[in-house]
Amino acid sequence: MSQTETVSQYNDKFNEALQWMWGDGYLAPGGPEEVAEMLRDLPIKDADVVDVGSGLGVIAVLLAEKYGAGSVMGIDVEAHLIDQSTARAEAAGLEDRVRFKLVEPGPLPLDDESLDVVFSKDAIVHMPDKVAFYREALRVLRPGGLMVGSDWLRGDETTLTSRAQSWLDFVHLDFRMSDLESTRSAISNVGFEKVSLRDRNEWYQTEINKEISTLEGENFSKLEQLIGKDEAGYRLESSRLKKCAIDDGFLRPTHFFGYKPGASEV
Ligand SMILES: C[S@@+](CC[C@H](N)C(=O)[O-])C[C@H]1O[C@@H](n2cnc3c(N)ncnc32)[C@H](O)[C@@H]1O
Repeated sequence: MSQTETVSQYNDKFNEALQWMWGDGYLAPGGPEEVAEMLRDLPIKDADVVDVGSGLGVIAVLLAEKYGAGSVMGIDVEAHLIDQSTARAEAAGLEDRVRFKLVEPGPLPLDDESLDVVFSKDAIVHMPDKVAFYREALRVLRPGGLMVGSDWLRGDETTLTSRAQSWLDFVHLDFRMSDLESTRSAISNVGFEKVSLRDRNEWYQTEINKEISTLEGENFSKLEQLIGKDEAGYRLESSRLKKCAIDDGFLRPTHFFGYKPGASEV
């Protein structure tokens, strides 16, 4: 599909609802605390970083501002997100170090061995070919470079309960979910070493309750005023169904890590 044909999944109204639950600029759960958890013990100071699926750009700005990345290139497939991200970097006075680029799904428009860190939060779930993505990540990393990401993975067949299936049927995002073992072997098989995964299902079992509380009662009325009854209703129902998928062990947000073989690590 060419860029002009790409259908927007993350339109402004939808994004308002996601930020209502997850905080200004965040299109996925956990906010800056979850980014901190991903980067725990992983210094990225002065590193050249790409943020794949950069959404509204808040994390790319955070990587430069809080974690001291030398440069961050945020890439995304939706033009309006790139525009809003660029404005965010400018507002933070970081336009020299944080840039955004509209890309087409597929190969990364980045040179071989040009980066120290490939970062991605909750975007790979949309990609049909994960192996191709991991191969591209390996290609663009310098020897010793780090891939660190979070992806919405799934449990085995026994966790796909009828209520987990109801969540999948209800959600209108295009999810292509992989499981933990396939993810681990895909990352290793393309050539990463020291591969590890961190399952965040237990964390999200708690977090989803906070998420739902931002959508109920008085909060629902406020959200309704902001984005309208239908969108607010969709959001609440989606989170309630998602809670079942999490509690049944089907939805497993997972952090993953791997290093490109080579001399020195980031
Ligand atoms: C759930 S949002 C997460 C955004 C951001 N990482 C965050 O945590 O707020 C997923 C993002 O991935 C983007 N995306 C989807 N497919 C992509 C692809 N093939 N390459 C790059 N970005 C993609 C979407 O447009 C969206 O901005």
